[in-house]
Amino acid sequence: MRPTFDELVARASALADRRRLLGVCGPPGAGKSTLAARLVDALDGRAALVGMDGFHLAQRVLDRLGTADRKGAPDTFDADGYVDLLARMRARTDKIVYAPLFDRALEEPIACAVPVPDDVPLVVTEGNYLLLWPRARALLDEVWYVDPGEDVRRERLARRHVDHGRTPEQAWERTLGSDERNAELIAGTAALADLLITP
Ligand SMILES: Nc1ncnc2c1ncn2[C@@H]1O[C@H](COP(=O)(O)OP(=O)(O)OP(=O)(O)O)[C@@H](O)[C@H]1O
Ligand SMILES: [Mg+2]
Repeated sequence: MRPTFDELVARASALADRRRLLGVCGPPGAGKSTLAARLVDALDGRAALVGMDGFHLAQRVLDRLGTADRKGAPDTFDADGYVDLLARMRARTDKIVYAPLFDRALEEPIACAVPVPDDVPLVVTEGNYLLLWPRARALLDEVWYVDPGEDVRRERLARRHVDHGRTPEQAWERTLGSDERNAELIAGTAALADLLITP
Protein backbone atom coordinates (compact mmCIF):
# COMPACT_ATOMS: atom_id res chain seq x y z
CA MET A 1 0.00 0.00 0.00
CA ARG A 2 1.05 3.57 -0.57
CA PRO A 3 -0.86 5.49 2.08
CA THR A 4 -0.24 9.22 2.35
CA PHE A 5 1.03 10.64 5.61
CA ASP A 6 -2.38 12.21 6.26
CA GLU A 7 -4.04 8.81 5.81
CA LEU A 8 -1.62 7.31 8.32
CA VAL A 9 -2.36 10.09 10.80
CA ALA A 10 -6.10 9.49 10.36
CA ARG A 11 -5.66 5.74 10.96
CA ALA A 12 -3.53 6.33 14.07
CA SER A 13 -5.99 8.95 15.30
CA ALA A 14 -8.89 6.52 14.95
CA LEU A 15 -6.99 4.07 17.18
CA ALA A 16 -6.47 6.69 19.89
CA ASP A 17 -9.92 6.40 21.50
CA ARG A 18 -8.52 4.62 24.58
CA ARG A 19 -5.10 3.26 25.55
CA ARG A 20 -3.78 1.49 22.50
CA LEU A 21 -0.35 0.44 21.33
CA LEU A 22 0.65 1.03 17.71
CA GLY A 23 3.88 -0.56 16.49
CA VAL A 24 6.04 0.68 13.62
CA CYS A 25 8.39 -2.03 12.40
CA GLY A 26 10.84 -2.51 9.55
CA PRO A 27 14.49 -3.19 8.76
CA PRO A 28 17.41 -0.91 9.77
CA GLY A 29 17.26 2.50 8.08
CA ALA A 30 13.72 1.99 6.75
CA GLY A 31 12.53 5.23 8.37
CA LYS A 32 10.66 3.87 11.41
CA SER A 33 11.95 6.42 13.92
CA THR A 34 11.30 9.28 11.50
CA LEU A 35 7.75 8.17 10.69
CA ALA A 36 6.87 7.36 14.31
CA ALA A 37 8.11 10.79 15.50
CA ARG A 38 6.14 12.58 12.77
CA LEU A 39 2.99 10.64 13.69
CA VAL A 40 3.33 11.46 17.38
CA ASP A 41 3.90 15.15 16.54
CA ALA A 42 0.83 15.18 14.31
CA LEU A 43 -1.30 13.65 17.07
CA ASP A 44 -0.43 16.67 19.19
CA GLY A 45 -0.49 15.40 22.78
CA ARG A 46 -2.68 12.33 22.11
CA ALA A 47 0.31 10.03 21.54
CA ALA A 48 3.65 9.18 23.15
CA LEU A 49 6.70 7.68 21.48
CA VAL A 50 8.50 4.70 23.02
CA GLY A 51 11.37 3.13 21.08
CA MET A 52 12.34 -0.53 21.30
CA ASP A 53 15.88 0.89 20.95
CA GLY A 54 15.81 1.93 24.60
CA PHE A 55 16.19 -1.78 25.39
CA HIS A 56 19.64 -2.11 23.82
CA LEU A 57 21.89 -3.87 26.34
CA ALA A 58 24.51 -1.49 27.74
CA GLN A 59 27.88 -1.50 25.97
CA ARG A 60 29.62 -2.92 29.04
CA VAL A 61 27.26 -5.92 29.01
CA LEU A 62 27.82 -6.53 25.30
CA ASP A 63 31.59 -6.31 25.85
CA ARG A 64 31.36 -8.87 28.63
CA LEU A 65 29.16 -11.19 26.54
CA GLY A 66 31.38 -10.77 23.46
CA THR A 67 28.44 -9.67 21.29
CA ALA A 68 29.42 -6.01 20.76
CA ASP A 69 30.23 -6.62 17.09
CA ARG A 70 26.62 -7.75 16.60
CA LYS A 71 25.03 -4.75 18.37
CA GLY A 72 21.54 -4.47 16.90
CA ALA A 73 20.95 -8.24 16.58
CA PRO A 74 17.93 -9.63 18.49
CA ASP A 75 20.02 -11.07 21.33
CA THR A 76 21.68 -7.69 22.00
CA PHE A 77 18.39 -6.33 23.39
CA ASP A 78 16.52 -6.92 26.63
CA ALA A 79 13.46 -8.35 24.85
CA ASP A 80 11.74 -9.38 28.10
CA GLY A 81 12.18 -5.89 29.53
CA TYR A 82 10.56 -4.41 26.42
CA VAL A 83 7.63 -6.84 26.60
CA ASP A 84 7.12 -6.08 30.30
CA LEU A 85 7.06 -2.35 29.55
CA LEU A 86 4.50 -2.87 26.76
CA ALA A 87 2.33 -4.85 29.20
CA ARG A 88 2.58 -2.07 31.81
CA MET A 89 1.60 0.55 29.26
CA ARG A 90 -1.35 -1.56 28.13
CA ALA A 91 -2.57 -2.15 31.66
CA ARG A 92 -2.67 1.59 32.32
CA THR A 93 -2.63 2.70 35.93
CA ASP A 94 -2.95 6.21 37.24
CA LYS A 95 0.84 6.48 37.24
CA ILE A 96 3.42 7.76 34.79
CA VAL A 97 5.33 4.90 33.14
CA TYR A 98 8.97 5.80 32.45
CA ALA A 99 10.49 4.29 29.31
CA PRO A 100 14.18 4.19 28.39
CA LEU A 101 15.69 5.98 25.39
CA PHE A 102 18.63 5.00 23.17
CA ASP A 103 21.11 7.85 22.84
CA ARG A 104 22.75 7.53 19.40
CA ALA A 105 25.60 9.89 20.29
CA LEU A 106 26.48 7.88 23.40
CA GLU A 107 25.44 4.57 21.76
CA GLU A 108 23.91 3.68 25.13
CA PRO A 109 20.39 3.40 26.55
CA ILE A 110 19.29 5.90 29.20
CA ALA A 111 16.79 4.60 31.75
CA CYS A 112 13.58 6.46 32.59
CA ALA A 113 14.12 9.12 29.91
CA VAL A 114 10.59 9.07 28.43
CA PRO A 115 7.64 9.73 30.73
CA VAL A 116 4.38 8.25 29.42
CA PRO A 117 1.46 9.85 31.28
CA ASP A 118 -1.60 7.74 31.90
CA ASP A 119 -3.94 10.17 30.13
CA VAL A 120 -2.17 9.83 26.76
CA PRO A 121 -4.30 7.35 24.81
CA LEU A 122 -1.94 6.16 22.07
CA VAL A 123 1.55 4.77 22.57
CA VAL A 124 3.50 4.55 19.33
CA THR A 125 6.38 2.10 19.67
CA GLU A 126 8.92 1.49 16.95
CA GLY A 127 11.77 -0.90 16.35
CA ASN A 128 13.20 -3.83 14.46
CA TYR A 129 11.83 -6.86 16.25
CA LEU A 130 8.21 -6.04 17.08
CA LEU A 131 7.05 -8.82 14.75
CA LEU A 132 9.86 -11.25 15.55
CA TRP A 133 9.04 -11.44 19.25
CA PRO A 134 5.58 -13.07 19.54
CA ARG A 135 4.98 -11.69 23.06
CA ALA A 136 5.57 -8.16 21.79
CA ARG A 137 3.33 -8.67 18.74
CA ALA A 138 0.53 -9.98 20.95
CA LEU A 139 0.53 -6.76 23.02
CA LEU A 140 0.28 -4.42 20.01
CA ASP A 141 -3.11 -3.37 18.60
CA GLU A 142 -1.64 -2.75 15.15
CA VAL A 143 1.80 -3.06 13.60
CA TRP A 144 2.78 -1.15 10.47
CA TYR A 145 5.76 -2.31 8.42
CA VAL A 146 7.85 0.32 6.66
CA ASP A 147 9.58 -0.83 3.48
CA PRO A 148 11.08 1.89 1.26
CA GLY A 149 12.83 -0.66 -0.99
CA GLU A 150 16.24 -2.13 -0.35
CA ASP A 151 18.37 0.33 -2.35
CA VAL A 152 16.81 3.38 -0.71
CA ARG A 153 16.99 1.76 2.73
CA ARG A 154 20.69 0.88 2.42
CA GLU A 155 21.56 4.37 1.12
CA ARG A 156 19.73 6.02 4.02
CA LEU A 157 21.32 3.70 6.54
CA ALA A 158 24.86 4.19 5.25
CA ARG A 159 24.35 7.96 5.17
CA ARG A 160 23.12 7.93 8.74
CA HIS A 161 26.19 5.93 9.84
CA VAL A 162 28.38 8.61 8.20
CA ASP A 163 26.37 11.35 9.94
CA HIS A 164 27.20 9.62 13.22
CA GLY A 165 30.93 9.70 12.62
CA ARG A 166 31.79 6.58 10.61
CA THR A 167 33.88 6.76 7.42
CA PRO A 168 32.00 5.82 4.21
CA GLU A 169 33.91 2.50 4.16
CA GLN A 170 32.92 1.71 7.75
CA ALA A 171 29.35 2.81 7.02
CA TRP A 172 28.98 0.44 4.06
CA GLU A 173 30.73 -2.41 5.85
CA ARG A 174 28.20 -2.11 8.66
CA THR A 175 25.24 -1.59 6.28
CA LEU A 176 26.08 -4.64 4.16
CA GLY A 177 27.36 -6.69 7.12
CA SER A 178 25.63 -7.02 10.49
CA ASP A 179 22.79 -4.62 9.54
CA GLU A 180 22.04 -6.68 6.43
CA ARG A 181 21.74 -9.93 8.41
CA ASN A 182 19.27 -8.23 10.75
CA ALA A 183 17.39 -6.79 7.77
CA GLU A 184 16.92 -10.27 6.28
CA LEU A 185 15.59 -11.58 9.57
CA ILE A 186 13.15 -8.66 9.88
CA ALA A 187 11.99 -8.98 6.26
CA GLY A 188 10.91 -12.52 7.11
CA THR A 189 8.41 -11.11 9.64
CA ALA A 190 6.75 -8.55 7.31
CA ALA A 191 3.75 -10.80 6.58
CA LEU A 192 2.73 -10.53 10.25
CA ALA A 193 2.08 -6.78 9.92
CA ASP A 194 -1.39 -5.22 9.65
CA LEU A 195 -0.26 -2.59 7.16
CA LEU A 196 2.63 -2.50 4.70
CA ILE A 197 3.89 1.00 3.94
CA THR A 198 5.83 1.32 0.70
CA PRO A 199 6.95 4.68 -0.75
N1 LIG B 1 10.79 9.57 4.10
C1 LIG B 1 12.12 9.82 4.16
N2 LIG B 1 12.72 10.46 3.16
C2 LIG B 1 14.05 10.71 3.18
N3 LIG B 1 14.87 10.33 4.18
C3 LIG B 1 14.33 9.68 5.20
C4 LIG B 1 12.93 9.39 5.25
N4 LIG B 1 12.67 8.71 6.38
C5 LIG B 1 13.86 8.60 7.02
N5 LIG B 1 14.84 9.19 6.32
C6 LIG B 1 16.27 9.24 6.70
O1 LIG B 1 16.79 7.94 6.60
C7 LIG B 1 17.62 7.63 7.71
C8 LIG B 1 17.04 6.43 8.43
O2 LIG B 1 15.79 6.81 9.00
P1 LIG B 1 15.39 6.35 10.47
O3 LIG B 1 16.50 6.65 11.41
O4 LIG B 1 14.05 6.93 10.75
O5 LIG B 1 15.28 4.79 10.22
P2 LIG B 1 15.01 3.60 11.25
O6 LIG B 1 14.12 2.65 10.54
O7 LIG B 1 14.55 4.17 12.53
O8 LIG B 1 16.46 2.94 11.40
P3 LIG B 1 17.05 2.03 12.60
O9 LIG B 1 16.45 0.68 12.47
O10 LIG B 1 18.50 1.95 12.31
O11 LIG B 1 16.73 2.72 13.88
C9 LIG B 1 17.68 8.88 8.57
O12 LIG B 1 18.86 9.59 8.28
C10 LIG B 1 16.45 9.67 8.14
O13 LIG B 1 16.66 11.05 8.27
MG1 LIG C 1 15.37 4.07 14.42
